[in-house]
Amino acid sequence: MPSHPTRRDFARAASAASLAAWLPSGVFAATAANRKAVVHADQEIATIRPELHSNFAEHLGSCTYGGIWVGKKSPIPNIDGYRRAAVEYLKELGVPVLRWPGGCFADDYHWRDGIGPAAQRPKRVNLHWGNYLEDNSFGTHEFIGFCRLIGAEPYFAANVGTGSPEEFRDWIEYCNYPKGSTLSDLRAANGSPEPFRVRYWGVGNELWGCGGNYTPERAAQEFRRFATFARGMAAARSIPGGTDVYLVGCGPSGDDARWTRGFMDQLSGGGPQIDGYSMHYYENGNLPPTEFTVQEMYRQLNLFARVEQAVIHQRELLDGYQPDPRRRPGLFLDEWGIWDRMIPEEERTRGRLWMESTMRSAVGAGLGLNVFNRLADKLYMCNIAQLMNVLQSLLLTDGPEGAHCVRTSTYWAFMLFKPHRGKTAVRVEADGNRLPAGPVPGNGGRGAAREEEPPDLSVSASRQGGEVVVSLVNPRHDLDMQVECAILGATARSARAQILHDADMNAANTFDNPDRLKIQPLAAAVEGGNLKLTLPALSVATVTIQAG
Ligand code: AHR
Repeated sequence: MPSHPTRRDFARAASAASLAAWLPSGVFAATAANRKAVVHADQEIATIRPELHSNFAEHLGSCTYGGIWVGKKSPIPNIDGYRRAAVEYLKELGVPVLRWPGGCFADDYHWRDGIGPAAQRPKRVNLHWGNYLEDNSFGTHEFIGFCRLIGAEPYFAANVGTGSPEEFRDWIEYCNYPKGSTLSDLRAANGSPEPFRVRYWGVGNELWGCGGNYTPERAAQEFRRFATFARGMAAARSIPGGTDVYLVGCGPSGDDARWTRGFMDQLSGGGPQIDGYSMHYYENGNLPPTEFTVQEMYRQLNLFARVEQAVIHQRELLDGYQPDPRRRPGLFLDEWGIWDRMIPEEERTRGRLWMESTMRSAVGAGLGLNVFNRLADKLYMCNIAQLMNVLQSLLLTDGPEGAHCVRTSTYWAFMLFKPHRGKTAVRVEADGNRLPAGPVPGNGGRGAAREEEPPDLSVSASRQGGEVVVSLVNPRHDLDMQVECAILGATARSARAQILHDADMNAANTFDNPDRLKIQPLAAAVEGGNLKLTLPALSVATVTIQAG
């Protein structure tokens, strides 16, 4: 016999619901809710530089060795030593710029170790990532070869911590000087008569930490010293066939204003120009990737609004030093991405910082890429960490010897955002686009899970001619969002949409089920000039609208 629920029943149901939020799982029953958004197709922000979708590869775990590079004699299908599946997948996605060789590794890397006959290269100890023996079989030529294969522009992180200005200027000469000098002739003798024309050079990495624990003032002095000789070596104006270098100084962890003020105060006294300024912001999680709870997922996903705040703030600080319509130095988010708690057994068998990418990670990638679109006027380049087998990677292999290579949920999130590259970002309003109140905390930060407001619908858009591209992220685990999005400043006529979705935040593409998470078509309609679609709980979607 049906009975009316008592107060106690409500209390039980409420505590079961909040308990569910703390447990890893699972699929939750979603209810439907309406959401509204507005795309102002005629209010331009700036061009979305393809470089905002760039990446980073370090000599760490099985990213470079066993990931990108399996060696020419490997039974794993390869192209001259490069893992064939990785080359094919990355070529299809397009990686605009690839930063290398670190990371922390960069400030203990000496480029001369990585040239010449591989068998004669010295063996060094990789002191940052487990003291393994680095045999240097992957060096400058191998990295450039990989970039050429996947169509990426190379970005070198030069050694400040244990390096010297001489070593830095020599590396530039080796790579970029056309011919006739001893170092450029050595490059030719090593198989590359044509200069590599490397434009992007980082001057040290995380100099506030693993790069040498510098103060910001001291780091800026090092920048001046290193940049003086690097610049002299590079001027395309004075070297026929030369390449101008773009020098990136070391910025803060997260939104550390003290670092930026200390660094920029010191530089404003004069000296060589700083072209780019690099900040790092990881979105940390306190749980292993496939054991997230709703509470912890929301805590982590809310960090993307903090990233947005941090970029705005760092850009303001830089503009205060050098009001320049071209916004020099360009702001780099040189390392970003989800960093969950590692599983020791996976790190042991598959490599340091090997981490599964789940539906939650893809939602995180979508939130991040939406932020970059909305801040297209403030950002110059963004590199997710890292390309393969490390942190929030695009590809995963089953260890350095593993023949399997899967495209992760993050790979597919990047694919969904590809249509924005090179288009003009336009202004958007949506519930989840609002910035949090209060001061900006530092970098991502681990810590006890706190009660968090759930994140909400996040939207970004771009336009080129008669095409408007809109990306939408539903970060809620319990709500299917029926979205009505007004397109103002253009007359929307038709829409085509794609989606990445799984109701389980902990779902991932595994070696047994590599295609669980994949882009699918999504129904979308244009009615009365408005875009209408349903975004299921936990989804990332992109809609291409034909407009007049
Ligand atoms: O991406 C992993 C590490 O994170 C990098 O080596 C370092 O720069 C950062 O702390």
